Amino acid sequence: MKIKSDVKPLLLYFEDEQDSALRIAKAGNLTLAKIERHRFPDGEIKLRLPEQLPEQLVILRTLNDPNEKLVELLFIAQTARQLGAQHLTLVAPYLAYMRQDIAFNLGEVVSQRVVGKFLAGLFDAVITVDPHLHRVATLQEAVPVTHAIVLSGAPLLSDLIAANLQNPLLVGPDEESAQWVAMAAQRHGFDHAVCHKVRHGDQSVAVDLPDISMKGRQVVLLDDVVSTGHTIAQATRLLLAAGATSVDVAVTHALFAGNALQLMRDAGVGKVWSTDCIFHSSNAVSMATSIADALSMIHEATTC
Ligand code: R5P
Repeated sequence: MKIKSDVKPLLLYFEDEQDSALRIAKAGNLTLAKIERHRFPDGEIKLRLPEQLPEQLVILRTLNDPNEKLVELLFIAQTARQLGAQHLTLVAPYLAYMRQDIAFNLGEVVSQRVVGKFLAGLFDAVITVDPHLHRVATLQEAVPVTHAIVLSGAPLLSDLIAANLQNPLLVGPDEESAQWVAMAAQRHGFDHAVCHKVRHGDQSVAVDLPDISMKGRQVVLLDDVVSTGHTIAQATRLLLAAGATSVDVAVTHALFAGNALQLMRDAGVGKVWSTDCIFHSSNAVSMATSIADALSMIHEATTC
């Protein structure tokens, strides 16, 4: 679908993501409007959008703590089309439910498929950062929209590591992190390797270190997501026991559920760096410019 318009897209955001919205709007020279949100005493929510909307609309909603946010997106997308929007882009720097991509037991919900189809039914384009795609090759397979754009935090995290450490060794805590570790390592010529991980439960993982010397190395564990922190904590303990002089952490999505940060610190983690995909005190690099560039690309592709 091509839209006849030279009006720039409007970026809609929620109050709790205002800082992130301002950074994206500044990088892309976009206009902004806040979505008003009221919670009724019984827990239901009421949202209000601007009365008139341009043809192209961008909604920023990062999907940590996703359940209620998915309902918000349903309300917003349907209402936005009634108010005149013709092309809707979702910017979800963190895209939830991507890790459940297969039914391990009969009857289990494959959340990735359900959430992907749900979002594709609401939006024409989706931009996200380092989605956890394990058994599907592309984001479009999981979220079948015309423009399914994947950005990565690995280059910016790599630059940050290069500015802070000399000759670091990048280690991925599991095989799935290999893609991000390789990307970050290649950018500055860092040594790199990945561990082997077996997950036994939410709070229980077994990690095997790669077969290389850790003695005297400044190690950075790099991954897409830290959730409970058990993966990083376990890898850190092993790395320090194997002779690493320090273990820092670089992660795209700082989910940090419960006491994850403390667990990692207790295991011996030094610095923790994250992107601003999820707001957290460890945020050290911003994805705003990359997101603004992707929005501009979608805008050009969809207007005439
Ligand atoms: C999964 O493979 C991800 O890349 C992370 O390694 C995982 O989600 C981390 O989970 P947790 O912090 O709970 O160990």
